[in-house]
Amino acid sequence: NSLSISPTTAIQSPLQIFVRAKKRINDIYGEVEQYVNDSCKFLLVLPNDSDLITKEELLVVNSHVEKVKGIREVLSRDHMKVAFFGRTSNGKSTVINSMLRERILPSGIGHTTNCFIQVEKSENDESYLISEDSAERKNVKSVSQLAHSLCTGSLGDSALVRVYWPTDKCPLLRDDVVLVDSPGIDVSPNLDSWIDRHCLDADVFVLVANSESTLMLTEKNFFFKVSARLSKPNVFVLNNRWDASASEPEYLEEVRRQHLLRTVDFLVDELKVCGTRTEAEQRVFFVSAKEVLQARINEFKGLPMNTGIVTDGFHGRYFEFQDFERKFEECISKSAVRTKFDQHTKRGKAIVGDTRNVMEILLDRASTKRAAKSQSRREVLDHLDFTEKQLQLVTVEMKDKICKMVEEVEHKVSKAL
Ligand code: GTP
Ligand code: MG
Repeated sequence: NSLSISPTTAIQSPLQIFVRAKKRINDIYGEVEQYVNDSCKFLLVLPNDSDLITKEELLVVNSHVEKVKGIREVLSRDHMKVAFFGRTSNGKSTVINSMLRERILPSGIGHTTNCFIQVEKSENDESYLISEDSAERKNVKSVSQLAHSLCTGSLGDSALVRVYWPTDKCPLLRDDVVLVDSPGIDVSPNLDSWIDRHCLDADVFVLVANSESTLMLTEKNFFFKVSARLSKPNVFVLNNRWDASASEPEYLEEVRRQHLLRTVDFLVDELKVCGTRTEAEQRVFFVSAKEVLQARINEFKGLPMNTGIVTDGFHGRYFEFQDFERKFEECISKSAVRTKFDQHTKRGKAIVGDTRNVMEILLDRASTKRAAKSQSRREVLDHLDFTEKQLQLVTVEMKDKICKMVEEVEHKVSKAL
């Protein structure tokens, strides 16, 4: 029953953890910017000879203005990044297309993807690409046009092409997820440069394995290199092409057990990215990206999910893909909040703390100055008081003297008469 399969556009997507955190930290940094800018403006209009602020203190606040501006820029561009790796033709591009619910990336038999392709949201409604070798925006309307643009480029396999895509069909893009497709790890000698250029800021890695074979050494070695550069990367393993198992139902359970065992060994004992086997089991999925993509394209067109012949176990595989998406979303949003915002939160606190310190020192100095001024004013007033009283005394004394003198003169005059 196709109605029972709800799409992953659930209202409460775990991606909202990141989306909300990003909005909140952006708002807070807006306030921090206002505070630092206001403080700086205030300090700059203080008279030069006021002795209230030193050059060094002014420099501290001034440098924070630039710093906050830079952090705000980084914050507005922050996103959650997931990178897909695996051998050629395991279905990396098809997995990404299924998650995006649309055939965006070229896929096909043989070696298809020949450079890194990063799909991210387009701010306007247009789809276009920008490649590393030019600043030109090339419009792309269809997957064949995109494939053509990628073929004609003379880029190496470590180069990056950014594809900007409208978000109307792709909730992941709307919620700031950026998906990076890669060429097969078995066809390139440049794995170190791949890691330097594309992996260090990834929040989640998805190894797209082929369930028709087994995990290969090339795949394992690549992830050993990744985990040597990043502490405990988040790794999911998709055993893709699991629809093939339907043709051999008698081996299905056994093959699944064997793949699971080996993959869990790899994640826990060899790569050491999961602490326990239970934790690792939550990172391994058996899916068919091709089926999911077709089902979602049908669904979008208003057709039943599975037109034509339904391969046995389709619903189970579809559910498992959705389960992967849910766990992936939880993992990526929590990890991105931690790695991207933790540092900015600490820096924001330090910036506000420094600025407040300078303003408090300034306030202290201003209060001391005012106190000193009012003290000297009080002294002058006291002195005036005293002088006035002295004057009064003197005046009284003089009056007495003059009176006496007048009396004396009067007396003498009366005698003379
Ligand atoms: P490169 O870009 O060449 O490294 O390959 P890729 O890993 O991106 O594989 P791609 O998505 O191009 O898929 C290769 C072929 O496998 C295509 O013909 C897909 O249709 C097919 N394919 C992908 N996923 C599945 C699946 O789950 N089941 C089956 N049966 N075929 C699949
Ligand atoms: Mg590909």
